[in-house]
This record gives sequence, C-alpha cells and structure tokens, in this order.
Amino acid sequence: MAEVIDGKRIAAEIRQEVKQQVDELKTKGGVTPGLAVVLVGDHPASAVYVRMKAKACEEVGIYSRVIRMPQETSQSELENVVDELNGDEAIHGMLVQLPLPPQIEEKPIIWRIAPEKDVDGFHPMNVGRVMIGDPDAFRPATPAGVIELLMRSGHNPEGKRVTIVGRSNIVGRPLAVLLSQKMKGGNATVTLAHSRTPDLPAVLREADILVAAIGVPEFVKADSVKPGAVVIDVGTNRVDDPSTEKGYRLVGDVAYDEVSKIAGAITPVPGGVGPMTIAMLLSNCIAATRVISSIP
Ligand code: GUN
Repeated sequence: MAEVIDGKRIAAEIRQEVKQQVDELKTKGGVTPGLAVVLVGDHPASAVYVRMKAKACEEVGIYSRVIRMPQETSQSELENVVDELNGDEAIHGMLVQLPLPPQIEEKPIIWRIAPEKDVDGFHPMNVGRVMIGDPDAFRPATPAGVIELLMRSGHNPEGKRVTIVGRSNIVGRPLAVLLSQKMKGGNATVTLAHSRTPDLPAVLREADILVAAIGVPEFVKADSVKPGAVVIDVGTNRVDDPSTEKGYRLVGDVAYDEVSKIAGAITPVPGGVGPMTIAMLLSNCIAATRVISSIP
C-alpha cells in the first residue's frame, strides 16, 4: 500500500511558521497583517472555503475581514469594494472568491485588484512574474501548495518526470510553469496533459509524479499510474451521497482505493492538497505585508 502524504500535518507545520512571522511583524515591525476575502452570492462550496480561510487567519493572528455581498451584486458595486480594499491600510492581501455570479465579469475584477495585494496570484502582473521566474512573485496558492507538499514529504520533483492532468489557469498551467523552472522545487521534466490528450492513460503512466487537477471525480484510475509513482490529488469534488449527514461526500480526481494499491505515495481527499492551499495563502499574505510595509 502507498505511503499516505499527510497534507493536514504539513499544513499545520507551515501555519506554525506563519504564526511566528506574524508575531514578529507585530512586535518588531509594529504591523498586523490583514487579509480581506470577498464572497459574492451563495455558492455553497465557496462559503465553506471562505470560512476556512478566515478561521485560518485568526488562528495565526492575521486580521481577517470577510465581505459578504448578495447574489445580485452588480459589476460596479463589486468594483467599488475592490477599490476600497486597494486603498485600505489595514488590508495587505485580498481575494475575491471565485466563481462569481453570471452577471459579473471576472476579468475586470481581477485586473482591478492592486497587484501588491493580490495574494491569489491571479492578476496578470503576478501571472507574468511567475512565468518569468521572479522569485518574489505571488505564486498561486494551490500550485505552491503542491510543490511545498512534495518538498516537505521527501519527494523533490527535481530530475523527475512530472505529469499534470488538467490545464486550468489556477492550477495546472501555473504548476507546469513552476515545476519546470530552474529553482528549488522545480527542475522537473513536465508534461501538461488534458482531456484532449490522445491515449491519456499511456501518457500518465510515464510519470514519476502524477498530479490530478482536472476536476472530474475519480478520473485517474489504476491503469494510468506507474507502479511506485507519487500521486498528488488536487480534486475536491462533491458527489451526492444520501447516506451521509450532509447529503454529499468529497472525492478527489483520483480513484483512491485502486490507485493507493499501486502508487508509491498518495495524497488523500480531504486532508491532502486542500489544507496546503490555505497555508500558502497565509504565507502570501505575510509576503504582501512585508512588501507593503517595507519590512525585509
Ligand atoms: N475558487 C476556487 N479556488 C479559488 C482560489 O484559490 N481563489 C479564489 N479567489 N477563488 C477560488
């Protein structure tokens, strides 16, 4: 059976490190890092994520402000909130939780966030900085979390064949960029596979490290995994299950039961990549505070 990579434990370790930095910023720098999270509407999973982000902030001593706006919020109302947060000195990092309701255009919102407060790393300025290997860029939290998880669990991607399945702007594509860069946590040989890759199982079987980020429940089966490979499951999919209290359960993009029999190591869902994403968001918030407050 595969080694289970404990994202919950590793994320707790990172949060502890963040907490020490927060304490130092407060005592020596005289500044309290502040994160604002904007939630528009009533997307149920988003509401859960936003609560988790706020709770994580409070635990490490980051000031958190959640701005909840109604489902029928207009483009200009949301833009005004972004403008206010851009100018708010108590706020060092901000994010607008996605997806947004259909009447709101996402691009002008993301472009409006001050790049130095864009702790999600979604603004094109930060996307570009990541692309050219700027070590001070905000790395988007989920790809950064995947790399940190690999490094801290003893699976350095350097020199390995890494295959990512899923090419989203927030996970697959930036992860491919980061893993292929000449830097710590990089130096991998990367394949970015997707739904239109011919003979996908054969491509995935070449991977020493396989990252599933396609957003389809249990998409990666055992016949797509090389024996002994490290499997990182980024998926968090809700599937209906009337036998549970909530009426659903969370499953990843990997068919865990069969893949864990042949993989060398695997991340569980929940408790794998998810907690890492939040830990890296906190870490970006510290970085934003240092830059904005000119504290090295
Ligand atoms: N929706 C799903 N993941 C994310 C994320 O990392 N940031 C934001 N803002 N919204 C999301």
